[in-house]
Amino acid sequence: MSFTGQPLRHPLAEKYYAAVDNVYEDGYVVTERGGITLPRDYVLDGQRILDFPVRHDDVWVVTFPKSGTTWTQEMVWLLMNDLDFKSAKEKCISDRFPYLEHTALLPKGCRDGAVNTIDKAQHQPPPRLIKSHLPPVLLPKQLWTVKPKIVYVCRNPKDTAISYYHHRRLLMNMQLSVDEFIEAFLENVVNYSPYWSSALEFWKLRNEPNVLWNTYEDMKKDLGAVIRKTAAFLGKSLTEEQVRQLEEHLSFSSMRDNPATNYSAVVQRLRAGIGLPPAPPDQAFMREGAVGRARQRMSPEVDRRFDQWIRDNIRGTGYDGPI
Ligand code: A3P
Repeated sequence: MSFTGQPLRHPLAEKYYAAVDNVYEDGYVVTERGGITLPRDYVLDGQRILDFPVRHDDVWVVTFPKSGTTWTQEMVWLLMNDLDFKSAKEKCISDRFPYLEHTALLPKGCRDGAVNTIDKAQHQPPPRLIKSHLPPVLLPKQLWTVKPKIVYVCRNPKDTAISYYHHRRLLMNMQLSVDEFIEAFLENVVNYSPYWSSALEFWKLRNEPNVLWNTYEDMKKDLGAVIRKTAAFLGKSLTEEQVRQLEEHLSFSSMRDNPATNYSAVVQRLRAGIGLPPAPPDQAFMREGAVGRARQRMSPEVDRRFDQWIRDNIRGTGYDGPI
């Protein structure tokens, strides 16, 4: 069976590609299965990912990009590794917790002969910890039969989109205004769109016993409560002192200053791979870590469009995730 996609044809696509200097030389596709926008090379790995052998004792962290993935991975890794803070600080989270489809998402200049991340994810010693940004329709089919634990993290779409805007600037020096990027986001021109194929579809799965639905907003409001809930889901028990230690380790400032979680080396490597100089000091992966500031960053007109887009996409679904 072959995995296919049609070239993304949208009036905004050309503008968006040009703004990231056409780093994906082969452009983007919309996958035939699920209608998801991804770089063209994804079709080479799409079937292998659907057929990826899943283990019952895996733990998956799945999100739409920029929703608090790294934050959640660090929490899950520590819960699964007896709060081994020392080892956590010694190795980058991307090596401890492979990102399943990452190779296909990397511009060619950044691949550097590295092992395909599907192999990396597959060959970890169990219990394997795997990150993915794919929506249910593109995730390994065995997830729905073998049913390992999946921690999903949702973030309100406006903060997600603004975080995505800055991420594109950081990694690819994207030359678009906030409003221009938001338009591309709302029109499903950016990687992994549509947002709702992930958020809404996982929300429908939120009551499955092997799925934990967490939100970025809850983590901000009461991280201790999310730690306790996630620990219980993973079958781990923590003392209150351990919860406090983990909370401290997971604080924004601690993760921002920790080279194993702040992706500073990864960012410089990726930028170098596409010929960019080191990131300016005011740009970083750990950027702001806040809730609800997105509205101030877009024009009132685009903000109104965004609100309408949210209403249109959740109408009749009962969706009560963060918006
Ligand atoms: P901002 O760009 O809004 O600051 P992901 O890991 O899915 O790419 O998400 C990245 C977003 O999560 C960034 O959001 C980042 O700052 C935020 N983040 C990462 N660690 C965090 C933490 N410990 N506390 C709060 N936000 C965090």
